[in-house]
Amino acid sequence: DYFSPKDLLLKGKKVVVTAGPTRERIDPVRFLTNFSSGKMGYAMAEAAASLGAETILISGPVCINPPSNVTLISVESAKEMYEAVIEQFETASIVIKTAAVADYKPKEIHDQKMKKQPGEATIVLERTTDILAAIGQRKTTQLLIGFAAETNDVTHYAKGKLAKKNADYIIANDVTEEGSGFGTDTNSVTLVGKNDVEIHFDHLPKKELALQLLQTIMKLETAESK
Ligand code: CTP
Ligand code: CA
Repeated sequence: DYFSPKDLLLKGKKVVVTAGPTRERIDPVRFLTNFSSGKMGYAMAEAAASLGAETILISGPVCINPPSNVTLISVESAKEMYEAVIEQFETASIVIKTAAVADYKPKEIHDQKMKKQPGEATIVLERTTDILAAIGQRKTTQLLIGFAAETNDVTHYAKGKLAKKNADYIIANDVTEEGSGFGTDTNSVTLVGKNDVEIHFDHLPKKELALQLLQTIMKLETAESK
């Protein structure tokens, strides 16, 4: 039964979950970010803890309270999140990368507030490190689960990310679909995995969805190891 967390499927396992957006500073008063609310990541952490995992939640700045029974590590930038993940990675059984990590950061952080000038302005951006791809390169026994927010060709892009990042599963959602994506309490996703796994979960509360996703993945993993 999907809704009962009474079998402690993740007992004895350390699960690391990243959540929320990152903030990339421009100057002391401004930053670049995205619309991630942290709800899906916090729901994943809550579900992992309810299934008995020792749960570490590495979170960017959000406005929601962490679930009980998880250890919260607060970070701001993609770089800080990368460092926190690397520190936890080796002892983790499962890493779930729900965070919406900035792909770019300002090349230069100004020490003083930038003053407006007449005409156009330019901020030069450079790439951040892809955290999931970095741990995908280093993984030994860890199970890596990524998320992907897409606006089109959802499954196609998810399969590409699965291969490119050496992840075990990608949970993809179409953020343009109603009741799905940023800030909502519900979500519709497709779980894409190795061996052509492709399972759709339609319009569920994020907390219920999180539990179903973890239970499904653990079922697939035990089936595979038999
Ligand atoms: N991710 C990450 N580090 C980054 C960017 C993304 O760890 N610097 C992770 C996200 O946490 C997510 C997965 O990679 O689990 C997919 O993120 P997504 O933004 O969908 O993919 P990208 O590879 O960044 O591709 P694009 O944004 O161009 O679609
Ligand atoms: Ca991205």
